[in-house]
Amino acid sequence: MLMKNQLFRKKSLDQLLNTKGKVQLDKTLSGFDLITLGVGAVVGTGIFILPGTVAALHTGPAIVFSFIMAAIVCGFCALCYSEFSSSIPVAGSAYTYSYVVFGELIAWVIGWCLILEYGLAVAAVATGWSAYFQSLISGFGIHIPEALSGPFDPANGTYINLPAIVIILLLAAFLTLGVKESNRLNGIMVFIKVGIVLLFIIVGVFYVKPENWQPFAPYGFEGILSGAALVIFAYLGFDAVSSAAEEVKNPQRNMPIGIIGTLVICTLLYVAVSLVLTGMVPYTELNVGNPVAFAMELVNQDWVFGIISLGAVVSMMTVVFVMLYSGTRLVFSFSRDGMLPKMLSDIHPRRKVPLKSTWIFSFVISIFAGFIPIDRLAELVNIGTLIAFAAVSIGVIFLRKINHPGLQKGFKVPLFPVVPIISFILCIFMISQLSTFTMIACLIWIIVGLIVYFTYGKNHSLLNK
Ligand code: ALA
Repeated sequence: MLMKNQLFRKKSLDQLLNTKGKVQLDKTLSGFDLITLGVGAVVGTGIFILPGTVAALHTGPAIVFSFIMAAIVCGFCALCYSEFSSSIPVAGSAYTYSYVVFGELIAWVIGWCLILEYGLAVAAVATGWSAYFQSLISGFGIHIPEALSGPFDPANGTYINLPAIVIILLLAAFLTLGVKESNRLNGIMVFIKVGIVLLFIIVGVFYVKPENWQPFAPYGFEGILSGAALVIFAYLGFDAVSSAAEEVKNPQRNMPIGIIGTLVICTLLYVAVSLVLTGMVPYTELNVGNPVAFAMELVNQDWVFGIISLGAVVSMMTVVFVMLYSGTRLVFSFSRDGMLPKMLSDIHPRRKVPLKSTWIFSFVISIFAGFIPIDRLAELVNIGTLIAFAAVSIGVIFLRKINHPGLQKGFKVPLFPVVPIISFILCIFMISQLSTFTMIACLIWIIVGLIVYFTYGKNHSLLNK
């Protein structure tokens, strides 16, 4: 009985919302900052790489419907995230929310899945970045030695993906400069990438041949469905906005603006890009690594091709940046709760950022990105995220049962409890569309997490006091 109580002990809202004397992050972000943070985290490989293979192999031009379907799933989750993050505006996202409504053990498992999401997403996107970057600089006659250009694979002559490591560590260094400063940099990069995506749409629309949209859905509804499970990757990152809750001014108003605004902007961009892309190039020819740039090359718009390649490099950089940010804040929250060693929540007195957790997290991930071929592991990002989405969706129902004066009166999910239930079911359905390999790998990851919890977290948890 004692054991059971310990595993399901919950974080009290008194503790969570009473911030006196606690380590605190600075409150500097506005709603607009949140949208740039969100678009920064979301628009990356999902628009510059993914649409090619998905359209060619799964959906045809109907990829538009896959994008819309995935947006609907994320939209439901976004509503639930908005309610949580505006009611309990503290760092830690789904992990902290679960701590309040489900108790310690489940919170730890969800947090552990999120580490998988952020960590592998950073590694996967940094690897994609490295490939685009190398192709971009090769246009200027600069080549990175073969041995340093890819993960450890002696048979193919590559030993270390140096650009992937360098970009992660470089962005980690920017993160340590302070939140306001790093957001300014992120904001600039986000403007560049949205501008470049718009450039593609505006130039591309003149080269659309409607006959390329025939047949529109060559792989039928099934194709659209499996496409949706894959392109959900393109939306990942909007949840990262909620990790910033503790650093936001007026979170009751700004959190929903940030989360839902991000999702709406990204959906519009994805739908427009995929319509133009499949209108420009027959879908059968889109199975290439750089479909968006490729389409421009095909219509001899060489200058647009160059700009778009540059845009892809910048975009993926912002995705790495925000995911890295979210991952480090999660490690910070774990440590602040006593679930990981205390030094990981030390805050630098002047810069007000968790320096140690930033460097340790980034270093581990960079080693991952540098040496391990992660193609097969990339789907794990989706499953880690969907588990967290499912927990947040169903968690809203429990959140409403909590009657606490400190609970902020913020955004409320409409049509309660229908929306959270549908959201939960959709997440589980999406998980069921992923491969068995992914599910087993995720299970192994969770088992490792449980070992960490039972050997360290349970005994050091702040709730023991
Ligand atoms: N949504 C992010 C991307 O597309 C992960 O790169």
